[in-house]
Amino acid sequence: MKVLVATGSKYGSTREVGSVVASTLEEAGFEVDVQDACDVLSVTYYDAVVVGSAVYGGLWRRDASELVRDHMIELRRREVYMFSCGMETVVRPGQRLDEADALARDVGARKHQRFPGALDYDRLNVGEKAIIRALNPPRGDFRDMSAVRNWASRVATELQAVAAV
Ligand SMILES: Cc1cc2nc3c(=O)[nH]c(=O)nc-3n(C[C@H](O)[C@H](O)[C@H](O)COP(=O)(O)O)c2cc1C
Repeated sequence: MKVLVATGSKYGSTREVGSVVASTLEEAGFEVDVQDACDVLSVTYYDAVVVGSAVYGGLWRRDASELVRDHMIELRRREVYMFSCGMETVVRPGQRLDEADALARDVGARKHQRFPGALDYDRLNVGEKAIIRALNPPRGDFRDMSAVRNWASRVATELQAVAAV
């Protein structure tokens, strides 16, 4: 079974989460490609697609949401999993991700998982720094790669079940 893991990431932390998902799926025996969402030209080669994005202002990165929208018809015929990375899970769990949830519904995603992300204040641009100073979320790396691996293992188990049918 061929799997694509594609991520929308501005500062790289979500891309790294995608790499951990990909290596877990590879260890489970899948053939896995990893791409930035903006580089994906087609999904037709794949049986399953995992799309992840960093969350900014409650929205997915545009390249990740466009990947889902632009390839909606092909994705609906495939197994799709989604994940979102953000600080809201650290600060105030419960932020609605209406756009991503709607995409998950429209595409028939089997799961939409949220993971805590990472915030490196020094790398932000001036506008982002102003937002972060106002919101004052904790700064640092809150990613839990063992939780990511566990989730990816569950995805692998589901995909193995699908492949066996
Ligand atoms: C300006 C700004 C806005 C953000 N807005 C949200 C948000 O609405 N919800 C959330 O959960 N995280 C938010 N975050 C946190 C990012 O999603 C988090 O830092 C993420 O891990 C960044 O991923 P990346 O390194 O792949 O770009 C925001 C971060 C910045 C800098």
